[in-house]
Amino acid sequence: MNAGTGVVGLIGHPVGHSKSPEMMNRAFRACGLPFVYLAFDVSPSELGTAVRGMRALGFRGWNVTIPHKVAVLEHLDEVEETAREIGAVNTVVAQEGRLIGYNTDGEGYLRSLVDETGLELSEQRVLILGAGGAARAVAHALATTGVESITIANRTREKAERLAASLRKADARAVSLSELERVVGETTLLVQTTSVGMYPETEAIPIDPSFLHERMIVSDLIYRPRKTLLLREAEARGARIHGGLGMLLHQAALAFEHWMGKPAPVDVMREALEEAMKSAGGG
Ligand code: ATR
Repeated sequence: MNAGTGVVGLIGHPVGHSKSPEMMNRAFRACGLPFVYLAFDVSPSELGTAVRGMRALGFRGWNVTIPHKVAVLEHLDEVEETAREIGAVNTVVAQEGRLIGYNTDGEGYLRSLVDETGLELSEQRVLILGAGGAARAVAHALATTGVESITIANRTREKAERLAASLRKADARAVSLSELERVVGETTLLVQTTSVGMYPETEAIPIDPSFLHERMIVSDLIYRPRKTLLLREAEARGARIHGGLGMLLHQAALAFEHWMGKPAPVDVMREALEEAMKSAGGG
């Protein structure tokens, strides 16, 4: 590092669990880029001050995680269309003094899904479990791919209804959890976006496992554990499975590309992520 070293980073609260520093710093080294990536724990009351500070210090950009993904919007100069539709930003780029907000979560999810499953998206009848921030990102991304239909089921039904109504590019509808049994028969892609089953509550499952079947791909956004109880139950019933680690990798790779203007070294980043996951434990 020297006086010419550029800075990017992450703001969140907390940030101690993040694997982004490992992925990004390894990527910069592999590409010979003079940048460093640091994680900053910023409390909600300090968000505006932190953004002004990063702007003043000439950061190339930064990632944004919970709880700042929505609140950060009001501190930016511009928000790209997808991020505006989702209502959340996970990547900020400083370009000629202007701060531009992006959301790479949905696109990162699609890259991972297509990469790992080879799925033909236009043929899918999608069922999304959950209607929070992660669901919004994934649903908006899937809605642009020409999938046959998107059904959203959430514990709080009104949130599912609001999300379905916002997906103008797709044939979308909301159902309540009690209606799941009726709709799963036709589902070809089940996307699990809730926190149910996440470490340390690894014996929790968000859907009756008897609803899972071999004609569907089951995709769980949770990456800790790598194979959730939902994925284990799905596998046991002959369904194909897709875990959440690839989304984490590809949303980071897309952020790298926004900052650096060149393709990310995805294999190097995957290796760094795998190593960081191993040392974190939790399956
Ligand atoms: P994220 O940004 O990870 O999506 P979020 O916006 O807080 O987090 O959304 C969490 C999602 O998990 C919501 O869909 C939530 O359902 P509600 O909208 O009804 O709160 C869902 N969720 C969390 N805990 C749940 C549980 N025990 N059972 C069912 N759904 C749950």
